[in-house]
Amino acid sequence: MKKLLFQFDTDSHPSSFDTVVAYDGGADHVIPHGGLTPDNITSLVEGTIFTRAPKDKKNTAIFVGGSDIVAGQELYIAVQKHFFPGFQVSVMLDSNGSNTTAAAAVAKIATSTSLSGKKAVILGGTGPVGQRAAAMLALEGADVSISSRHIFSAEKACFSMKERFNVDLTPIEAADCDARGEAIADANIVLATGAAGIELLKTEHWIDNPNLEVLVDANATPPLGLGGTDMLDKGINRHGKIIWGAIGFGTLKLALHRACIAKLFEDNKQALDAELIYKLAKEMA
Ligand SMILES: NC(=O)c1ccc[n+]([C@@H]2O[C@H](COP(=O)([O-])OP(=O)(O)OC[C@H]3O[C@@H](n4cnc5c(N)ncnc54)[C@H](OP(=O)(O)O)[C@@H]3O)[C@@H](O)[C@H]2O)c1
Repeated sequence: MKKLLFQFDTDSHPSSFDTVVAYDGGADHVIPHGGLTPDNITSLVEGTIFTRAPKDKKNTAIFVGGSDIVAGQELYIAVQKHFFPGFQVSVMLDSNGSNTTAAAAVAKIATSTSLSGKKAVILGGTGPVGQRAAAMLALEGADVSISSRHIFSAEKACFSMKERFNVDLTPIEAADCDARGEAIADANIVLATGAAGIELLKTEHWIDNPNLEVLVDANATPPLGLGGTDMLDKGINRHGKIIWGAIGFGTLKLALHRACIAKLFEDNKQALDAELIYKLAKEMA
């Protein structure tokens, strides 16, 4: 029986990245749908849960993606509201690679230093990756701040993570590299999750900071998010700090993403969101 993965994307064009990784993770056929909302998925979900015998339902699964994590969260919940005993399939949420990228980054930080009680700043942390990473670090006991160019965006992201994970995050407004340099003055951990191709810190903003232990950059598109680092940095020491570049930890992100896809087909009851994806990341890291 073919393993079918239905890609439910909240954007009008379903992510080609997610399609490729779905095949690499073991799906035999991937069916991408774009522009999905809680209001237009009923027949699509019913088609996944009513078609195969109970023992075969594990061969059908749903992946929720798209660039908007809040829309993704709503769609992920809406999908599961159509399930009832005996009629469900496995489902995963990973809008913009948010859970898998954040989980891989935080799991790698945890191999480099302890997290509990540490001060962590997520630069450009208002996107899907930054929000989820902030929540994962906070759940590990770190004291986490999210920076944005606009305080209201940072506040919105913190509120959203409080609602979903019951974590208390601190919003910071930092409009340019100098302001972000000041924002990390007493940080032990810095994770840069700004948009692709945006430099968030220059070398001089972190090189002499005595408090910093670990810096991680999620952005692999030049210019990198953290000046003076290399996207291939794999937990190497630069100026007394441990550096993880986007490709350096990205190999774990891709392996994790593929492993999650494979897990969807183990049975028909998997519900993979931040908590379980982060647990798997720690095992793999
Ligand atoms: N390494 C990997 O394996 C991997 C996998 C997936 C994604 N990524 C990367 O992870 C990063 C985060 O992804 P994402 O989807 O969460 O990002 P995103 O939503 O595209 O952007 C994150 C934030 O960047 C800030 N930003 C945008 N333009 C900016 C500018 N000109 N100056 C300063 N800040 C700016 C925005 O924050 P404000 O408007 O609030 O300031 C935005 O919310 C991206 O670089 C992406 O390419 C890496």
